[in-house]
Amino acid sequence: MEKLIDGKLISKALIEEISRETKEFVAKGGKKPHLAAILVGNDGASETYVNSKIKMCLEVGFDSSVIRCTSTITEEQLLKKIEKLNTNPDIDGFIVQLPLPRHVSELKVIEAINPQKDVDGFHPANIGRMALNLPSYLPATPFGIYQMLEKSGIETEGKNCVVIGRSHIVGSPISILLARNSNPGNCTVTLCHSKTQNLKEICSRADILIAALGKPEFITKEYIKKGAIVIDVGIHRVQDSSSPKGYLIKGDVKFDEVEPLVSKISPVPGGVGPMTIVALLKNTLLAAQKKVYAY
Ligand code: GUN
Repeated sequence: MEKLIDGKLISKALIEEISRETKEFVAKGGKKPHLAAILVGNDGASETYVNSKIKMCLEVGFDSSVIRCTSTITEEQLLKKIEKLNTNPDIDGFIVQLPLPRHVSELKVIEAINPQKDVDGFHPANIGRMALNLPSYLPATPFGIYQMLEKSGIETEGKNCVVIGRSHIVGSPISILLARNSNPGNCTVTLCHSKTQNLKEICSRADILIAALGKPEFITKEYIKKGAIVIDVGIHRVQDSSSPKGYLIKGDVKFDEVEPLVSKISPVPGGVGPMTIVALLKNTLLAAQKKVYAY
């Protein structure tokens, strides 16, 4: 059995699936999905993320728009732009790229988004629906991990799953998803965080370990149960003068040391990362098909 969980390969197959489904939906008279992104300021990383999201929209046959605002935009002006997208019938889903300038409340912005168009799955209504096992837009990274487990044929029922990190966009939602009565799901989940005691001991009992703590190569062999499945959500640039770019991309897991012990592991890069964009595309297609809020 293949040990490496190849996120690149799985995401490629899913992108083709979304492409095909979009074509069929449009051929039957359905609306061509349209994703909009609000980009505030000129943060380099945010520009890159939004550009790649838009590029992928084109690739699967969606329409896309970017609404650019200067970093001096007021909260009120930004909320008005959100309201415009909320009421524009041509826009099926939209995202507000984070982070936002300090003078703008992230919570106010997220709460202003119509949950039916919240393809990032950040609105409290979508998080609540997720917790209740109702149809919802799942946030990108947890959705990506979920699909990775599913497509790799990993049995999760009854397994001990340990999640490290309780962020609102990764640790907390993936712990909810995997504890739900669903497949993947039905795990016994332990959510660990910065105040957890005996982290090593807890992790070394995990059948499935999800590392989303944000510390480069923190998870070493002492944290691993033999035969465990390890999902690495970290992504870090680690200085390395011998590599061409002067840095290497590393995850939260010390891959070379951990890999010999596990039954499956997702690498960094090429693991969870490529899966996240698929989630956004899938959510946008679901929005156009009106499949999530189907009432
Ligand atoms: N910033 C970093 N990740 C994300 C994401 O998934 N969505 C949005 N809107 N902003 C982000």
